Amino acid sequence: MTQDEKKQAVAEAALEYVESGTVIGVGTGSTANFFIDGLGRIKGKLDGAVASSEATAERLKQNGIPVLDLNATGGLALYVDGADESNRYLHLIKGGGGALTREKIVAAASEKFVCIADDSKLVDVLGTFPLPIEVIPLARSYVARQIVQLGGTPVLREGFTTDNGNIILDVHNLEILNPAEIEENLDRIVGVVTNGLFAKRPADVLLLGGDSGVTKLD
Ligand code: A5P
Repeated sequence: MTQDEKKQAVAEAALEYVESGTVIGVGTGSTANFFIDGLGRIKGKLDGAVASSEATAERLKQNGIPVLDLNATGGLALYVDGADESNRYLHLIKGGGGALTREKIVAAASEKFVCIADDSKLVDVLGTFPLPIEVIPLARSYVARQIVQLGGTPVLREGFTTDNGNIILDVHNLEILNPAEIEENLDRIVGVVTNGLFAKRPADVLLLGGDSGVTKLD
């Protein structure tokens, strides 16, 4: 199976979690895109969706799915999104596509978070994938120095601005043995908007696509 076929398979499996007459949260990235295209086929079931990025909002609209404002919907029953890495406790690294802040907000507002990924994303210890951190532009150098003190190597994502008008620092060389503690410590740095660790609010279900089909971890 190709990586895209694995992504397609988990996206199809995630459609089973969509209940009639609900509004759901939808993530960002290539795996989420397969899910959005699948949603297009069952759009009659949905009252609408909350998007975690401008790109996702656009793709939802192309599929005929109403895009709603989280401030108007209240809590969501379900959030479906991809990840850059997951450990076996369903702690995630996200933000490879730069949408981490809105993704974390929509995940926080959702009762159930179903993460969909191909099996290359499952790791024993998080941190091989550089950890994305969204930072207020004025704070770039200050935040970078604080991250160096924590043992990381921050690299500015060149030519990239988030949907919120901020920059991303991708942090290399972090061995993330205690994800919730590191998430907390990074959040305490002034100027950090969000970091890409999803450990305080992990996924509830991970659907992993592999050569022998879809495996569910929860
Ligand atoms: C977007 O900001 C990310 O959090 C994505 O969820 C993550 O990068 C996974 O993307 P792919 O599905 O394209 O691998």
